Amino acid sequence: MKFKNKTIIVTGGARGIGASIVQYFLDEAAVVYVIDKKNPTEFNMINNENLFLVTGDVTNNNDVELFISDVMSESSSVDVLVNNAGILRDNVIWKLEEEDFDAVINVNLKGPWLMCRAVTSIMRKQNSGRIVNISSRSWLGNFGQSNYSASKGGLVSLTRTLALELARNNITVNAIAPGLIDTPMTRNLDPEIFKKLENTIPMKKAGHPEDIANLVGFLASDEAKFINGQVIHVDGGKSVGASIH
Ligand SMILES: NC(=O)c1ccc[n+]([C@@H]2O[C@H](COP(=O)([O-])OP(=O)(O)OC[C@H]3O[C@@H](n4cnc5c(N)ncnc54)[C@H](O)[C@@H]3O)[C@@H](O)[C@H]2O)c1
Repeated sequence: MKFKNKTIIVTGGARGIGASIVQYFLDEAAVVYVIDKKNPTEFNMINNENLFLVTGDVTNNNDVELFISDVMSESSSVDVLVNNAGILRDNVIWKLEEEDFDAVINVNLKGPWLMCRAVTSIMRKQNSGRIVNISSRSWLGNFGQSNYSASKGGLVSLTRTLALELARNNITVNAIAPGLIDTPMTRNLDPEIFKKLENTIPMKKAGHPEDIANLVGFLASDEAKFINGQVIHVDGGKSVGASIH
């Protein structure tokens, strides 16, 4: 019950990694507020009196501001923000449209920036807070993901900059860089491609949403209070380099 009655915000919490992060904090007796583009009826989630679901778009500043004022009308603090909402529009650069670049940058980078801007005034006043940004191993660069890699690299830079700006207020900002995780997003891939991707991972398997949620929980906990501005890879060893085995 490390997070009993703490206020946690999770973006994109309707399914996949986000839903697992939400479940982690509900299990720890926190009060969890979710903003997701999906309608609440589409949420892959149980009813829970500590869970508040709002349909909204993190790329839209009005939605973000309204959501945060809803949270503050119910709660006196924001203890943790998890920027998890993200999208993919993969292709080699010569086949990508400008709108594929804009859409991915907007959701994966502008969305977290708007959310961070909205919560930092609250966190600075309370002189505490935790922000965890879900980046991707692709921030290192990945074939066919010029838009996605740039958005996730930008998210790492945002993380490092906010870590500096907010440290004096006891607010930590860290990023998690997942490798291949088994979620609805990656299950949209051709099963053969999914298998091939698994084989490029030293551990020869995809991770599970809980592997990410457990680290979010740690970074948001008191045990992690001196970890700031870091990017932690959760990818079965893939970011270490190529393996011939
Ligand atoms: N699954 C992986 O292998 C993997 C790997 C690395 C990083 N990630 C990152 O982890 C995060 C979660 O990925 P996932 O696999 O669970 O994805 P997912 O597609 O299963 O879930 C993403 C959720 O975000 C929501 N969302 C999308 N756009 C939104 C918007 N504009 N406003 C509000 N909500 C929005 C969707 O409705 C959905 O519920 C993403 O940021 C993704 O880039 C995933």
